[in-house]
Amino acid sequence: MSLPRSEPVKIGVLYSTTGVTGLIEASQQSATLFAVDEINRAGGINGREIQLHVRDPGSIAANYATMAEDLIVDKGVRLIMGCYMSSGRKLVIPVVERHNALLFYPTLYEGFEYSRNVFCTGTLPNQTCVPLADYMLEKFGSRVFMIGSDYIYPYETNRIMKDFVFERGGETVEETYVPLDASEDHYRAIAERIALLSPDFVFSTVVGVGVEHLYRSFAKSGLNPRVTPIASVTTSEAEIAAMGADLGEGHFTSASYFQSVDTQTNRQCLENYRRFMGRDAVTNMCWEAAYFQMHILANAMRMMGSDDPVSLLRAIPGMEFDAPQGRVRMDEENHHAYLHTRIGRANSSGQFDIVRSMPEVLRADPFVIAHTPAGGGPSEHGLSAVAGSWS
Ligand code: ACM
Repeated sequence: MSLPRSEPVKIGVLYSTTGVTGLIEASQQSATLFAVDEINRAGGINGREIQLHVRDPGSIAANYATMAEDLIVDKGVRLIMGCYMSSGRKLVIPVVERHNALLFYPTLYEGFEYSRNVFCTGTLPNQTCVPLADYMLEKFGSRVFMIGSDYIYPYETNRIMKDFVFERGGETVEETYVPLDASEDHYRAIAERIALLSPDFVFSTVVGVGVEHLYRSFAKSGLNPRVTPIASVTTSEAEIAAMGADLGEGHFTSASYFQSVDTQTNRQCLENYRRFMGRDAVTNMCWEAAYFQMHILANAMRMMGSDDPVSLLRAIPGMEFDAPQGRVRMDEENHHAYLHTRIGRANSSGQFDIVRSMPEVLRADPFVIAHTPAGGGPSEHGLSAVAGSWS
């Protein structure tokens, strides 16, 4: 449907600002509001303003589905930005499929999914876990302890990571899962077990409030990140800002984006964001994906002169955008994104020193066809040089 002249473009925003993952999702909500502010100031979508319908699912998976249904049925929304935990996304997918709406999902996840009605702009295991396994095994050794929150994303990611570690000659010494709302005492017992087993590094897929408990218990148990670091794909500047830079310092994260990425686009975006949110605002990988996916959607709507999902499904595959992480592109086929890959070590300022980065974007390989960063193979479309060496 092309847009009637007077009608605003309606977009649903489904990030939790309360509950266990409220902190990181609040950053995704802020990124969306910021991007929409930029878009509306620049004339909206060919003169039409974007109107946001914002909901807080409270980090409860079922709420994402009921709120998505309400947005679509009651508010006439067909485009939704949202979800962090895979448990929520998995419940929203049938809703958007039934109503032929679109979900834009800006969070790292485990892959093994394709829906015509979902575009994923966060990283997949081939874009973060493979490079992280290579780096940690090379620098620290081959005995890995795995800890995750107790839901689908950590189970699936650790399953994939275990294969990567095994193929590289490593060994998983133990694997454990912690309830999303577990207390610090629960983590303290695990940290003591880690100290006893003395692995070369810990791979963490803990999310939400548990991140602070894990890093604090780690420090209290006398574990030293110079000897036994935590390697994660979920611990970002947001969690470190909440727990304090001293607890994060020395630990590693693999991501497409860090606030410290040193490009003019990132510096300018950060400056603009701080004018919008306040001088102390901190960005992170999930913030960045939420930001750039909103701009990609806006560009697609401008190009088609329409907010109709059927038109947008034709426009979005292959679209590129100069994101804060660097130039990104939506895959022509798999509804994921070509993204940059970096490994950062958290420093005493709560930021990441980038210790390794791929020179070019990596294609998303949702079904882990290849167990290398190149994933599903090099791009046929020119932007990516996926087999590139590390810098
Ligand atoms: C996640 O659950 N995809 C972080």
